[in-house]
Amino acid sequence: MPFTRMDQSTAAEWMNIGREVARRQAQMPTLIKSMLRQLEEQVDGFETNQLVHALQTATRAVRDQASEELIVAALCHDIGKVISVVNHPAIGAEILKPYVSREIYEIVRTHQDFQGRHYYALMEMNPNAREQYCHEPWYALAEKFTDEWDQASFDPEYETLPLTYFEPMIDRVFGKNLLANFDAEAQASA
Ligand SMILES: [Fe+2]
Repeated sequence: MPFTRMDQSTAAEWMNIGREVARRQAQMPTLIKSMLRQLEEQVDGFETNQLVHALQTATRAVRDQASEELIVAALCHDIGKVISVVNHPAIGAEILKPYVSREIYEIVRTHQDFQGRHYYALMEMNPNAREQYCHEPWYALAEKFTDEWDQASFDPEYETLPLTYFEPMIDRVFGKNLLANFDAEAQASA
């Protein structure tokens, strides 16, 4: 019988919970694809919907020979908008964090501050918000990400790769086993 209070739990029960969580975590690529498809409903006054924007940002990364992790980050950088536009950079960055390098996590986390260069002046906000990160080793790559890919990707005429093109990349990046210890334990005890 499973515990009803954590202070009465056993190590064996936690091992079992770990295995169950690992099984469910393995569905991450399917969940990411489903969230991306939900972006199709979001237009919010832009010239393209948010799925097209995501695909177009990632297509530009592909054509610039970016790494697979960075292409997937470009595809998912606004995925947090499924939950909340207001704090979407933080949501997207935290979803990506266990699957990508530290620098790619930071680029997604801060991308709105970089984007501000292109429109914050119109709203009486600071267009140089990115400068707080100017000494970071990932600063130049963040500029390329936002200036060449993200901010330019609201063009319905641009030849954009479909989601199916990116699905094997999603499978590889989000298929990383974060709970390998529990799986190894399960195999050893099988
Ligand atoms: Fe974006």
